Amino acid sequence: LDWIFDAADAFRSDRKPYSNLVAGKVAALLFFEPSTRTRFSFEIAFKKLGGAVVGFSDASTSSMGKGETFEDTVRIIQQYVDVMVIRHPDEDSLRLATADARIPVINAGNGSQEHPTQALLDLYTVRQLKGRINGLQIALCGDLRHGRDIHSLAILLALYDVEVILVAPPSFGMADFVQREWELRGFSKYSTVSRLKDLPGDVDVLYLNRIQRERLAVQPAEVDFHVLNDDFLARLDSKTVILNPMPRSHETPTWLDSDPRAKYFEQAANGLWVRMALFSMMLVE
Ligand code: NCD
Repeated sequence: LDWIFDAADAFRSDRKPYSNLVAGKVAALLFFEPSTRTRFSFEIAFKKLGGAVVGFSDASTSSMGKGETFEDTVRIIQQYVDVMVIRHPDEDSLRLATADARIPVINAGNGSQEHPTQALLDLYTVRQLKGRINGLQIALCGDLRHGRDIHSLAILLALYDVEVILVAPPSFGMADFVQREWELRGFSKYSTVSRLKDLPGDVDVLYLNRIQRERLAVQPAEVDFHVLNDDFLARLDSKTVILNPMPRSHETPTWLDSDPRAKYFEQAANGLWVRMALFSMMLVE
């Protein structure tokens, strides 16, 4: 992780020396689900390193529109390219895509399970803004059950000496597989509150995420346990960093954008440097 973060720092400060690192290589970006930040930053990262990019953001334009399976599609495409980046609504997609992969495959989001490159850029942003990760108190607030970005971040956080506060009622509580992962790694420095208004105002990082409505079979009426309001902001420490992987919903009101604690646009910008670092790590000797 330190290697990736240091490389991202180098790209951020001056990308010119690295503009040919993957020259002659091709990345396939296969997006079976909507995306803005993730797809654009992957594509631009690879191009800034001198590579070429192919792919789709609507699988119906591939032979899947003629009924070809996902497995056959990725098996064919991997023969033409050097790396594949895949986002897919099924949790099983990554396992299927990597089953006989001979090239690196990057998970850009598999259903409601994981979104590891988002977690990398989230952690990188924390390191950049706070100067460290160890010793911090980090609140994860929102749909902890279906938010794949939060799952991946929670798993990475267990590698550090941090204190995590989960902010969600049981119905949106942390996914079981993450809790099992924490147990496996012996990570136990966490506690839970069910509403944002019960969170202490002195956390170092407040990570908000929206309710993942597109993944819920039954739509809840109005959900507001995670909505940041004036009262909460007034007692939030002046040094707290507020992050959100975006897209946001009503939990992160637009009036917050001008507050110096709101760092989600910087966070999104960091996706570029971190993804450049990741490609370099995978593809450069
Ligand atoms: C996230 C995702 O797709 O999981 N978005 C992103 O990649 N920045 C978060 C979300 O959709 O809420």
